[in-house]
Amino acid sequence: MERQDGSRGVRSHDREVPAAVAESFRRGWEDTSLKLPLVSGAEYAAKRRAALSARFPGERIVVPSGGLKVRSNDFDYPFRPHSAFVHLTAEQGTQAVPDSVLVFEPTGTGHSVTLFTRPRSPRDGGPNGAEFYSDRRHGEFWVGRRRMLSETADALGVEAASRDDLERALGGNVPTRAVLGEDALVDALVPPDRGTEAELLTFLSELRLVKDEWEVQQLRAAVGHTVAGFHDVAGELRHATSLARGERWIEGTFNRRARMEGYGLGFETIAGAGSHACVLHWMHNDGPVRDGDLLLLDAGVEADSFYTGDVTRTLPVSGRFTDVQRRVYDLVFAAQSAGIAALRPGARFGDFHDAAMRVIAEGLDGWGLRPDVEAAPDASLYRRYTVCGSGHMLGLDCHDCASARRDAYLDGVLEAGHVLTVEPGLYFQPDDLTVPEELRGIGVRIEDDFVITADGAQCLSSGLPRSADEVEAWTAALR
Ligand code: GLY
Ligand code: MN
Repeated sequence: MERQDGSRGVRSHDREVPAAVAESFRRGWEDTSLKLPLVSGAEYAAKRRAALSARFPGERIVVPSGGLKVRSNDFDYPFRPHSAFVHLTAEQGTQAVPDSVLVFEPTGTGHSVTLFTRPRSPRDGGPNGAEFYSDRRHGEFWVGRRRMLSETADALGVEAASRDDLERALGGNVPTRAVLGEDALVDALVPPDRGTEAELLTFLSELRLVKDEWEVQQLRAAVGHTVAGFHDVAGELRHATSLARGERWIEGTFNRRARMEGYGLGFETIAGAGSHACVLHWMHNDGPVRDGDLLLLDAGVEADSFYTGDVTRTLPVSGRFTDVQRRVYDLVFAAQSAGIAALRPGARFGDFHDAAMRVIAEGLDGWGLRPDVEAAPDASLYRRYTVCGSGHMLGLDCHDCASARRDAYLDGVLEAGHVLTVEPGLYFQPDDLTVPEELRGIGVRIEDDFVITADGAQCLSSGLPRSADEVEAWTAALR
């Protein structure tokens, strides 16, 4: 007798599978192999693989997708492949297979590329022959059908092989660079050399700085779905005020849109009402949403291609800002507008932040809130009210290109095809004794997504109201 097993061993609630039943599972299945078309974006992924191959001639390059992460006991979090792996394969949505590994094997002229992956659960009674009905983590009857190897090759335009052959493929005395920490087998087989890994990570990150036309299309779609989610939320503001945990209603409203239109969320939704808006990444979302408060919603839909939007709006729950809320909002709005005006190819990445901070510094100065007026904006103590930078690259990761060198990113120059956020904010903590009481507990951030064009920048999130008047009209109408 076999016990239902899965890759985790027998569980207390598993029942035995008698030999006759196991035998019956082996027979009587129709051939359902498919002829799949090349996925959208595959040609662009091929160009990125060629760039990676050219950068590291003669070396083996290993880029894993990563695997499932346990949530508790025998349930996992939804699978989300590593962004470098996605960038090099154009793998999308629920098609992505945990524990896949892309291997570039050096040849005389470049590299041959093979995707080692788990093929569709076999039904032939071979070594993995019980997987399809007994493996709750990978079996077809438990988690759905994966592609056969030939289907993967057709869909992604790369050679595909079984992960069972990975160990052999990584043998031999070939200089190897790998993305480590994502796949235990790769980590065991590739000697750690943090120097070569860092160079690889940097290259892979910088390869993502300039988005190609297909990526811009994906980001446009992701931001479009994000905008739709914000409209959903604005329509639920009134209902949220009737609930003990209104922030959760806001979160759930946005998240439903994210699951409907995309793969899910680019990051956990931030829904902070009242003084929770002063917590930059407020994700507990367990507070009430009260009339008279502001609601800060920072959220992004991740498309099936895994590119994400990242937008913030700060809404008056009642449909009207109070005078003091409007004063803060208008200053952040003016700062964001100055930042946006500084976006163009050839500008330093830091220019939009500096422009936004100059407006904030002058505004706070006017309110008598700038303790060291002589200090340069970025060195000034007013930063206790702004806390963080005013934007970041956006792409497959919300904070994209995280391993790029400072010279290429923070101290670099904007180029056509860069996609980034502009998101200044002011956060007056509820216990901050340096500000008048009326400001305490007010947090405002306004965030939009932009693609740098040949002569300026285009806003991808322009479908949302931005000025105080527009935001009031929008929320009041939807209430
Ligand atoms: N949307 C979250 C952040 O940019 O940090
Ligand atoms: Mn952001």
